[in-house]
Amino acid sequence: MCGIAGYIGPKGADSVLVVALERLKYRGYDSAGLAVLNDGEIHLRRAAGKLKNLAELISAQPLEGHCGIAHTRWATHGAPTEANCHPHVDQGGTVAVVHNGIIENHEHLRRELQAGGVVFQSETDTEVIPQLIGQLYAAGPTKGDALGSLRAAIARLDGSFAFAVLFVDLPNRIFAVRKGSPLLIGMGKTYGADGQIDPVTERVTKHRRREMLLASDVPALLPHATKVCYLDDGQIAELTDQGVNLWTFGGVPVEAQFKVIEMTAEAVTKGSFDSFMAKEIAEQPAVLARLLESRLRGGDLVEPEVGIDLKTVSHVVFLAAGTSWHAAMLGKRFLEQLARIHVEVDISSEYRYRNPVASGNTLVVAISQSGETADTLAGLRLARAKFIPVIGLVNVVTSTIARESNGVLPLLAGPEIGVASTKAYTAQVLALYLFALQVAKAKGLLSSAAEQHAIVSARGLPELVARTLRQAEEAVGEAADIFSSAQATVFLGRGGEHPTALEGALKLKEIAYVHAVGYPAGEFKHGPIALVSPHLPVVCICPHDQMYEKMLSNLQEVRARAGRIISVGLASDQALRDLSDHLFPIESATEELLQPILSILPLQRYAYQVAMRRDCDVDQPRNLAKSVTVE
Ligand code: AGP
Repeated sequence: MCGIAGYIGPKGADSVLVVALERLKYRGYDSAGLAVLNDGEIHLRRAAGKLKNLAELISAQPLEGHCGIAHTRWATHGAPTEANCHPHVDQGGTVAVVHNGIIENHEHLRRELQAGGVVFQSETDTEVIPQLIGQLYAAGPTKGDALGSLRAAIARLDGSFAFAVLFVDLPNRIFAVRKGSPLLIGMGKTYGADGQIDPVTERVTKHRRREMLLASDVPALLPHATKVCYLDDGQIAELTDQGVNLWTFGGVPVEAQFKVIEMTAEAVTKGSFDSFMAKEIAEQPAVLARLLESRLRGGDLVEPEVGIDLKTVSHVVFLAAGTSWHAAMLGKRFLEQLARIHVEVDISSEYRYRNPVASGNTLVVAISQSGETADTLAGLRLARAKFIPVIGLVNVVTSTIARESNGVLPLLAGPEIGVASTKAYTAQVLALYLFALQVAKAKGLLSSAAEQHAIVSARGLPELVARTLRQAEEAVGEAADIFSSAQATVFLGRGGEHPTALEGALKLKEIAYVHAVGYPAGEFKHGPIALVSPHLPVVCICPHDQMYEKMLSNLQEVRARAGRIISVGLASDQALRDLSDHLFPIESATEELLQPILSILPLQRYAYQVAMRRDCDVDQPRNLAKSVTVE
């Protein structure tokens, strides 16, 4: 949660930083601000509300200067007001700080600083950081020593955080600190040379300089940076116009390791779509095709190296949150059916606070689109502390979860910017199916006929996804016209479509703010059926699978109580159509285990269409953030 950016270079820092924040706003978007250093002064611009408020403020009151830090906020401590916006500055006006994470002992530090005469300007936990650094820099053994002051301040801070600091008297210099929250350094072009005209600033320069950037995520470094270095936990970086210096918190110098950035700036723009969510839904055929391309060679399954002998695994624990947890539920079905092993699906925030049993042949699979979800990361660390091997199934392969796992299964879905997970979900489900095949093969349980059937079925998926997206659109729009004002919606599914029901409900809740719940349809009669009325749309997910007849009985029960039925099923299914007010047509997967990938598609579009009719911002729904890096 919260996004951090920093810039040192020939361009105007304010305009570079506003674009960087635009790329980070999926991490939080309730207020934003930046600080630019110019002529020995720190200049601030901050605005409550969406980023466009800050952008408007800056175009009305631009800032001179080529070195700055910026922040987009997801409020934890203190309402999203201008006073609580980052950057925060110390009382003496010496340092400015932007911060991501939580300072757990902030109350204690605040009281201590107040007792020493500091007057706080905000309600945030963050403000203790600049106040503390400012004091340490102004007097005592670390007076005038930026690095020393930072290290002394860090020693006083509890919690998990990343922050960036400007010192008023240190031009072209940004310090950055990481403990638990991600932070990346970007390296751009060199510019200027002795006595030559700088092509960008058109000034005569004295020495070659380098454009340097800082961000919570790669997209915010684009298009300026060509290389990236990931800060590790417990490191401090000093960015200057000559490059970067790194140290551990203990003061030991570390060599910065830069890698070429492979992501392009186009991958993080909306293109011709109205929203990232619409673009990401439409990308699903290509995403699944790319994943299959990486995992299939001709008629064979390519088995990625996961650093673990899968044939010895007899117990798998999936750790995940939100949409990733729904994918995990399908992963359990795949592994049980194909590899016949015992599987648990655990919500990360629950697992981390239990004392889970670690048996010899257990494997933990941490599923996370972002690879930064704090609870899933904590679960991973708990498992590793118990010597349980962990595979990270992530979209962001450079994420903390990827780096701390024994093995990584990448989703290859490309950047997912919309807060609602769509393409990453279907990629997770397919990746889990392929993983289950890999485990089954390692255990000698996959006959070559079964492998061929699985491969042929998987290969056909991208085309079926494309067809389903095309054919469902009209029916989805009609139903959204009718039900967008409904107060609540219920989603029912059985077997593999139970996770689809949960995921369909989550999409509608998070982007359209409609109260929605998903149930295993067999549970409906045990209480929730009391909700049925002529005003309640009930979405029944009813493909031609082994639970089909049972689902039809559920539809009958809803119809008998005058409920309104939206069904998800085959276009040719007249019996289903006759029982439904609306039918969202889907294609039929060759392999039933893969059907949920098709069934969720019209429900993603339905949530989107309802959200549009309710004037909701689908990419930045209220109260949410894409990457949940706090507890
Ligand atoms: C998905 O639509 C949600 N916004 C959310 O539930 C998300 O899936 C959850 O926060 C987990 O994120 P992760 O996959 O990045 O770990």
